[in-house]
Amino acid sequence: LPIDINLELRELRPGDRVTGLSIGEPVFLPLKTYLQKEAKSHHRLDLAKTYAFIEPSAPPRVRGYITLVCGEIVVEDGAPQVEPDANFTYPHFPAVKIARLIVDSRLRGNDLGTKLVQLGLGIVKDQICPRVGCRFVVVDAKRESLDFYVDCGFTLLNTKANRDRAQPIMFVDMTKVPSG
Ligand SMILES: CC(C)(COP(=O)(O)OP(=O)(O)OC[C@H]1O[C@@H](n2cnc3c(N)ncnc32)[C@H](O)[C@@H]1OP(=O)(O)O)[C@@H](O)C(=O)NCCC(=O)NCCS
Repeated sequence: LPIDINLELRELRPGDRVTGLSIGEPVFLPLKTYLQKEAKSHHRLDLAKTYAFIEPSAPPRVRGYITLVCGEIVVEDGAPQVEPDANFTYPHFPAVKIARLIVDSRLRGNDLGTKLVQLGLGIVKDQICPRVGCRFVVVDAKRESLDFYVDCGFTLLNTKANRDRAQPIMFVDMTKVPSG
């Protein structure tokens, strides 16, 4: 794939072609299957919202995507610190979760993944946090993508249980993210 193809970043649409995403390694098959079988219906039914890099062909083709859902962080030792006077006595912090993220393997290393995450953080900061209690963005990070998420501004949740997880939880405190 030529890396200079003109990709549009927008919400997934019913007419978009969702087949043909190159995943690189078999372990990422669930991300391809989700796009092909569930992403459009979940988007329409408000079960998950998907935003994609689209190649402007006929039909338009998905070359990478991010899926956002509601989530939470369990409040426990090592959970992210909020203001000490917040007086927050509930078992979970409200969050938005990055449920899926993938870029076509032939296009990786061109900042597309970073831009998908930045789009997600921007939506949460500008459209969710001002209207709905939502302090964090979270992700269950595959070990190979830990550095990628650190570069995107995420922090590893600092508990032993979390560090030992196959997919450790990482978070961004949205009060630390500038408004768009
Ligand atoms: C993680 C992923 C979405 C990043 O997308 P991307 O478009 O390649 O990311 P960017 O170009 O914005 O790269 C940011 C960093 O990711 C890492 N990265 C980039 N390309 C990579 C590749 N082909 N393999 C491994 N890491 C890579 C690098 O650390 C890069 O930093 P650098 O630009 O300083 O070198 C992509 O590698 C991917 O789809 N991986 C498979 C699915 C996956 O792991 N999803 C995350 C689920 S938690």
